[in-house]
Amino acid sequence: MYRPPAIDSFRPLSRQPHGVQTESMLDPQISEWIGQILRWTHVVTAIAWIGSSFYFIHLDLSLRRREGLPEGVGGEAWQVHGGGFYNMRKYLIAPPELPRELTWFKWESYSTWLTGFFLLVWVYYLQAELYSIDHETMDLLPWQVAAIGISGLTGAWLIYEGLCRSPLGNRDATLSGAVFILILAAAWGFMQVLSPRAAFLHTGAMIATWMSASVFVVIIPNQRKVVADLIAGRQPDPKLGKEAKQRSTHNNYLTLPVVFLMLSNHYPLAWSSRYSVAIVGLIVVAGAVIRHFFNSRHAHKGSPWWTWAVAAACIVAAIYLSIIGRPTVALASNTAPVPAAMLPTEEALLAVQSRCSMCHAAEPVWPGIATAPKGVRLDTSEEIARRAESIRIQSVLTHAMPPGNLTGMTLEERRAVADWLAARDRIRHTF
Ligand code: HEC
Repeated sequence: MYRPPAIDSFRPLSRQPHGVQTESMLDPQISEWIGQILRWTHVVTAIAWIGSSFYFIHLDLSLRRREGLPEGVGGEAWQVHGGGFYNMRKYLIAPPELPRELTWFKWESYSTWLTGFFLLVWVYYLQAELYSIDHETMDLLPWQVAAIGISGLTGAWLIYEGLCRSPLGNRDATLSGAVFILILAAAWGFMQVLSPRAAFLHTGAMIATWMSASVFVVIIPNQRKVVADLIAGRQPDPKLGKEAKQRSTHNNYLTLPVVFLMLSNHYPLAWSSRYSVAIVGLIVVAGAVIRHFFNSRHAHKGSPWWTWAVAAACIVAAIYLSIIGRPTVALASNTAPVPAAMLPTEEALLAVQSRCSMCHAAEPVWPGIATAPKGVRLDTSEEIARRAESIRIQSVLTHAMPPGNLTGMTLEERRAVADWLAARDRIRHTF
């Protein structure tokens, strides 16, 4: 019978020079807190950005014309919130007198990008061994991951800018098609070098970079030129507004896919499939058509219910591709013994204890890990039995755990766990 190595004979598969795992300079508890605070600020700023952007899209689409509005007002909307009534009006040309205080919406976007970039560096570059390197995909060192990631994001942004400024920029539908292909190509490219988890995250970060950069290099500068022209009594160049509008429309349609890609790093089924690039495409389409539904509805142009059918079809297809494309491991063997209880078999117990519990224990021994990640302890039979379903997702249906197979879990060991789970299922169905 196959016997996995005992815990004390275990050595990390680190490909650091001379096989030495670099110890973090920071106390692991401080490092854990830095990660949590970065993620917290990133989520909060993203809520502010997406919230204000959804709000203005809704407001813009719901403005109505009526008799008796002042000169230059294109439409108005009445809204009620927090116990007060708001009368919003949109001036298409500058009002006769520009108020001294004018609120600009840009820091929501910039701070989302900045906190996101710090989080990317913190998690995916400074902890590249855990999150970004998959030795089965490519043997990389952490600095190489950072170089690939940052140049990938920069290069993809230059291509996106180039596409929007090229003659394609005048043809909205063709441009959208080209951007869609660029997203798929980049997702595929990241998959060839990084761990699939990091590849998905980089695809999301790439789109988010376009969105924030559009605010920084097109939307806000164009807006400033228009304001300056209006104040000076000049007719602003209509091209400025058109460009800004095009970028806002892209941002609007890309919001939902980006949020999906950012969250997906916690859910391995989507990215560990062989068809994960197609899954990215399906999610982009689903997110865009859902936005389209709300855009039409808020503009009182009817409710295109077909969009939900398309989104549902895309999501069902994504689920299907995640199932048929997952890494292969024998799921159930009919010869697996049926244990008297739900506890893991000896083989499964050994596999999990020797490949997982250096991280998932009350006192992890893996350098840089202070407490069991996500509170998942896998050091006793009982704990392992309690986590059976998560173990199935992380290590049998996908190979998300151990991260990047750092501890070198073999297929036999995964099969031992799969056999135990299959036997356990049979007992459950008998009761
Ligand atoms: C090198 C350290 C390490 C090893 C070895 C390891 N894990 Fe993990 N595990 C992590 C980290 C880090 C996370 C948190 C991932 C995240 O934030 O999404 C995690 C998360 C998990 C989760 C929770 C996932 C979730 O999103 O809720 C489960 C379940 C899990 N691991 C199971 C296992 C199993 C089973 C093994 C062995 C086959 C294993 N892990 C080996 C580091 C490790």
